[in-house]
Amino acid sequence: MNPTKLNRAATIATAFLLAACTTAAQAAPYVMFRDPNCGCCHKWAEHVRQGMDAEVIVREDVPMPEVKANLGVPSDLVSCHTMTVDGYVIEGHVPSREIERLLSERPSDVKGLAVAGMPIGSPGMEMGNQHQPYQVIAFGDFGQRVYATY
Ligand code: CU
Ligand code: CU
Repeated sequence: MNPTKLNRAATIATAFLLAACTTAAQAAPYVMFRDPNCGCCHKWAEHVRQGMDAEVIVREDVPMPEVKANLGVPSDLVSCHTMTVDGYVIEGHVPSREIERLLSERPSDVKGLAVAGMPIGSPGMEMGNQHQPYQVIAFGDFGQRVYATY
């Protein structure tokens, strides 16, 4: 390769890296609120990190009842941790593929997704092969509807 070609290749590589950085910087932050005494949240956060290839910011500075009230999580859908991403609320052990679907479909009437309680076998709640059936519920001003069934 002659020096000019080499230079050009380096310029292209740099441009490519810059583009990648810009995309990452523009991606909406994933912020998970949790109670410092709860154990399962970190396992779920790891599931989201891997599934979404995203950074998850963890916050423990706001009491969880306050977080849920502020974000409008319906009381019958409450779980442990609560996440915000791109204007949506993710409550509990929601599988990352449903978050991915939400962020690509971007339904305007949906405020968030929730998996109520702590179903055994949901992401972050693995216990051997045990599986407790559960639903991912979409909530908003319309009320609630089933988004996915596991
Ligand atoms: Cu949990
Ligand atoms: Cu937890």
